[in-house]
Amino acid sequence: MSDITLDVPESRAGQPQPFRIGLLGRGTVGGAFAELLGERADTVAALTGMRPEISGVLTREGGDFDEVIEKADLVVELMGGINPAREYVLKSMRAGKHVVSANKQLLSQHGEELWAQARESGVQLRFEGAVAGVVPVVRVLQETLAAAYIERIHGIVNGTTNFILTEMRKSGASYAEALKQAQQLGFAEADPTDDVTGKDAAAKMAILARLAFSSPVNLDQVRYEGIEDITADDMAYAEELGLGLKLIGTAERVDGGLSVRVHPAFLYGGHPLASVDGPFNAVTIESPAITEITLSGPGAGGPQTASAVLGDVISAMIPPASTPETIETLPIVADVVSAFYLHLEVEDRPGVLAQIADVLGQHGASVRSVVQHGLGENARLIMVLHPIGERSFYAGLERIAQLPFMRSRPRAIRVIDEEFM
Ligand SMILES: NC(=O)c1ccc[n+]([C@@H]2O[C@H](COP(=O)([O-])OP(=O)(O)OC[C@H]3O[C@@H](n4cnc5c(N)ncnc54)[C@H](OP(=O)(O)O)[C@@H]3O)[C@@H](O)[C@H]2O)c1
Repeated sequence: MSDITLDVPESRAGQPQPFRIGLLGRGTVGGAFAELLGERADTVAALTGMRPEISGVLTREGGDFDEVIEKADLVVELMGGINPAREYVLKSMRAGKHVVSANKQLLSQHGEELWAQARESGVQLRFEGAVAGVVPVVRVLQETLAAAYIERIHGIVNGTTNFILTEMRKSGASYAEALKQAQQLGFAEADPTDDVTGKDAAAKMAILARLAFSSPVNLDQVRYEGIEDITADDMAYAEELGLGLKLIGTAERVDGGLSVRVHPAFLYGGHPLASVDGPFNAVTIESPAITEITLSGPGAGGPQTASAVLGDVISAMIPPASTPETIETLPIVADVVSAFYLHLEVEDRPGVLAQIADVLGQHGASVRSVVQHGLGENARLIMVLHPIGERSFYAGLERIAQLPFMRSRPRAIRVIDEEFM
C-alpha cells in the first residue's frame, strides 16, 4: 500500500508541537519501533497535531532513566522482564507520563498494581503489543466489547508453538526436528523454554482473561502444559479422526467462576482456529450477543509488534482511554469439562476394548469415535471421548493405566468440542 499523504490541519500547520517519547529498551521491538516512528512521524503529526520524536533512550549500554523520563511526554517500555521494568513503569506513571508497554510477563504478574497506579496518576497504560503481536485483541476487549458479556476466549497466542505443530502435521517431523527448523528460520529462540512449555501463552491468556471478565487474574492462577510430549503419531491419528492439534489458551466462565488454562488441544475442522497455521496468532471471543468473532494475524516479530506499539502511542496522544476496572472478583475454577483424545497401547486380545469402555463408563465418560491399529501382538486404540469433568476423567485414566493388558502409559490430549459452521 502506498503512503497516505495527510495535511496537518490548518490551525496546527507550520510547526506541529513535538510529542516526546522516552524509549526504555532498543532491542528487536524497540529498534523496530524507533525506525517505524521515523518513517511515520509526519502521518502521526497530521492525525494528532503533534510530531512524535524519541527524546531519550535507555539500554543496558547507556542512558539515564531519570533523564529519559524527565524529557518525555510518554514512556515506551520495551525492555522485557520484571525488574527493573516494573519500577521504571511505576516511576514513569507517578511522574505523570503515559506508558506503552509490550511486556506480557510484567502485566500478567503485576497488572493490578500497575493499573491502580495509572488510575491514581491519571495517565494511560496501554499494552496492545503484549498479546498476539499486531492482532488488535486488547483494543477490541477494552473498547469494542467493553460492556459485552463474554463467555469464553480461545487463543492461539504463541507463534513458535503453532509453527512447530504445523510443521509436524505437514511433514510428519518429530517435535525435536520441527523445533530445530523453527530455530533455523528465526521462529524460535535459542532457549525456547517459555514458548514450548506454554508459559508465554499463559501470560497472554491471563491478560486477556483480566480484560474479558473484569476480574483480577494473575499468571500463577493459569494452569499450563506445553507441546514437548506431542508425537508425530498424535498428528497422524488425529488426521484420521478429522482433528487438528494446536496449543490453545482458554479463558472461560465456569460455574460462577473462571478457568484460565493453556494446553495442547484437538479441534474439529469447523472451529475458526483450526485453519490458523504457521507462526500466526488468532483469538476467538464468544459472547451470546455476537456469537463469536475471530481476530488473527502475525503474533510476534519486531516490525509487527512495533506497529501495535505505535498504535498505542497514537491512542495515548488522543485521550481518553480506560484502564481495566475490577467489576467483580470471580473465583478461579480448577475442575472443568473437556472432551479427550485417548491414545492406548494394549495387548491385542478379546475383551480389552470392553474393559476400557467399562472403566470409562464408570467415570462418566462415553466414546465418540475409535480407531484401532494392529501392532503384531499389540494394538493401538485411538479414542475420542465426549466431554467429561477433567478430575473424573483423570481418575478413570489412572485406573486404565493399571489394567494388566496395557503396554505403555495411556496418553490423553483435550479436544475442543465446538464448531462454528
Ligand atoms: N520480540 C518480539 O517479537 C516480541 C513480540 C511481542 C512482545 N515482545 C515484548 O517486547 C519486549 C521487548 O522484547 P525484545 O524482543 O525487543 O527484547 P530484546 O531484543 O532483548 O531487547 C531488550 C532491550 O531492553 C534493554 N534492556 C534489557 N534490560 C535492561 C536493563 N536492565 N536496563 C536497561 N536496558 C535494558 C536491552 O538493552 P541492550 O540492548 O543494552 O541489551 C535491549 O535494548 C518484551 O517485553 C517482549 O516480551 C516482544
